[in-house]
Amino acid sequence: MPDPHSQSNTDSPTDWIIERIDSIDSTNSELSRRFAQSDTAPHLVLWADRQESGRGRLNRKWQSLGGKDLTFSAIFPSPVDRPDTPKLSLCAGLALVQILKNNFSLDTSLRWPNDILTQKGKLAGILSAYLEKPDAVICGIGINVNSTSTDFDLQTHYSPTTMLDETNRETPRDQLLSAFLSEFERTWFLADTNNFDELLHRFNEHNYYAGKILNIIPGEGALRDEINPENIKGRGFTGITEGLNPDGALLVKMNDGSSYPVSTNDLIIPE
Ligand code: BTN
Repeated sequence: MPDPHSQSNTDSPTDWIIERIDSIDSTNSELSRRFAQSDTAPHLVLWADRQESGRGRLNRKWQSLGGKDLTFSAIFPSPVDRPDTPKLSLCAGLALVQILKNNFSLDTSLRWPNDILTQKGKLAGILSAYLEKPDAVICGIGINVNSTSTDFDLQTHYSPTTMLDETNRETPRDQLLSAFLSEFERTWFLADTNNFDELLHRFNEHNYYAGKILNIIPGEGALRDEINPENIKGRGFTGITEGLNPDGALLVKMNDGSSYPVSTNDLIIPE
């Protein structure tokens, strides 16, 4: 008998299987458990109404309100060569920015590598992983949808905002998911090395760091929660962003004119 919570998405070019479940520790963890070492990966979206241990980048927690926010992970065979797979996370971010604008009239920007921000705070985050076997990508996305920022612990390391806070109306989560999936597939080609110019162009249109003076402290990204910006003056170096390098790293032009490719482990603090 078909699972009553499974459905196929019809708006996307790909026939995604959407599996909706009540609760799980983390949709990313569950897909890794299910498919690591499998021969092939499906196009499957695991949507959990509640995550007990949602994960963010750099081992942080991802908070969301069960039944209100959108937490899901998509697994799919990699559409690009292995070295290009990290850029699929940027593609997901660009797709999300695009549909938030086009379908939900919400202006957001992309804070490299994959935070979605409004003027008020962080609206969504992306956590991607690559499975060597099968050759597949897991892209996990958390979007603050119908909660309000007062629902979040004061413990979060960032200021959260939500679609409800921003637009004053509730957003149907299934519509948001469906719109994202269709747009995401349309951005996959950007991760291919041959399409770097187009990726750079689209990234520059939405780059949160554009025009900001950035302090970079190499290797200290994981310490972001503990660091008081006042205490890091004079450490690391200062520069401005000049886009991406072909691997998808954020390029920062330093005062001496050279370019530094920021790694995801580096700490970036805008002045
Ligand atoms: C971040 O901002 O650091 C990334 C947050 C990613 C959260 C999503 S929610 C669905 C998926 N499952 C997880 O445990 N994390 C991702």
